[in-house]
Amino acid sequence: MPVDTVLYNTKVYTHGRLIEAGLAVDEGRIFKIAKETNLPPASAKLDLKGNVTLPGLIDSHVHLRNQQLAYKEDFFTGTAAAAAGGITLTIDMPNNKPVTMDSKSLRERMKLAEKRVVVNVAFYSAFPKDLEEVSSIVEEGAVAFKLYMSQEIGGLDVDDDDMLLHAFKDVGKMGAPIAVHAEDREMLENMRRKMEKAGRKDVEAYVKAHPPQAEIKATKRIIQLTKKSSAHLHFCHVSSAVALNAILKAKNTGYPFTCEVTPHHLLMSSEHLKRYGTLALADPPLGNKDDVKALWIALKHGSIDTLASDHAPHTMEEKEVESVWDAEPGIPGLETMLPLLLAQVNDGHLTMADLVKLTSEKPAQIFDLRGRGSLNAGNCADIVVVDMNQEYKIDSSRFYSKAKYSPFDSWKVKGKPVKTFVNGQLVMDEGEIVAKPGTGQIVRWES
Ligand code: NCD
Ligand code: ZN
Ligand code: ZN
Ligand code: ZN
Repeated sequence: MPVDTVLYNTKVYTHGRLIEAGLAVDEGRIFKIAKETNLPPASAKLDLKGNVTLPGLIDSHVHLRNQQLAYKEDFFTGTAAAAAGGITLTIDMPNNKPVTMDSKSLRERMKLAEKRVVVNVAFYSAFPKDLEEVSSIVEEGAVAFKLYMSQEIGGLDVDDDDMLLHAFKDVGKMGAPIAVHAEDREMLENMRRKMEKAGRKDVEAYVKAHPPQAEIKATKRIIQLTKKSSAHLHFCHVSSAVALNAILKAKNTGYPFTCEVTPHHLLMSSEHLKRYGTLALADPPLGNKDDVKALWIALKHGSIDTLASDHAPHTMEEKEVESVWDAEPGIPGLETMLPLLLAQVNDGHLTMADLVKLTSEKPAQIFDLRGRGSLNAGNCADIVVVDMNQEYKIDSSRFYSKAKYSPFDSWKVKGKPVKTFVNGQLVMDEGEIVAKPGTGQIVRWES
């Protein structure tokens, strides 16, 4: 019996390096990686023209919206954007309308996604009101919990240490990780009131209202709490040098802490925010040049665990407003993350091994996504083919995301995702989405 597909004439990233080989794919899985002459007969053969084959990216911080926020993004447009960006699995954040925060809302979201997604999708849940629900949320298939310390999203009072500790202990028992947005709510609210009172409505006032002190205060508080539980804590979008240092110290104590950085915090600073205005506004805001430098140093030391887009789409009307306090923070990132990172590889700032580790291998480990995150026989055939030689400018008007803008618009990059396979099926070919909605799968927590 021939296998479904053989991909040939490519360099495959497997076992930590690029090798001249081909891939045999069968029934959605990688059957064999070997020299072309050693691959089995196939029903279809595809010439990859010498391009590089990588594990599809796992983007562990994505806001796919849908439901009452479908005017910003929906399961089809969001996952089409992922496919175009070489991302084969997105983990969906819970700050939706309604909020994903119990087994019922999670089930509803999974049901809506099932028929619409073109890449694989896993889900976060916010904490439920009733902590008894924690186990049923995991049993329903959430791969992680999300805690917002900057505002109340979900059922927990974020100012109540006892409740947080109770929740962390319960989640720790289930083994699922907890991702945290670490900014102190009270400090943000006080600073914002001060700025508004002073009549400020510019982006620099917004930066002042999100000081590094807010990030460090929340970070230190949650580190102490986590140490009293057995939970695995994952820090989202680390933006300041001081918070980063606290996290690095905590990681060294042997507790299971991990952290994520976004491409925008790595490649832009508050200077860009001044230049691009609210299009570059995200929470937490872009750091200053020293913050960016600290993130790069940690990245090169191997102390950053994951890179994730924090794809946070809003409408243009929600971005282009008179006062910064009316602006929605968030940057669409699914279609720019891999191109920007490939450009960094081409420039020698990042190795291909680092890229794969940060965007595939580590996310698969942290969120326990079995059979994913690397190209090995037996694993799911979630694959991206990249042309390392294409030079072009990022063009946000061509995004599949409903959010057709980007602070990275017109940035020159070198390196392009040209084909994306999800569960062995070609979903993106030369920038076109070629798969039907529903080609992606819902990926559930496995105990
Ligand atoms: C996110 C959003 O729009 O949902 N916005 C953002 O600026 N990052 C929320 C979040 O991730 O904090
Ligand atoms: Zn309990
Ligand atoms: Zn956040
Ligand atoms: Zn986010």
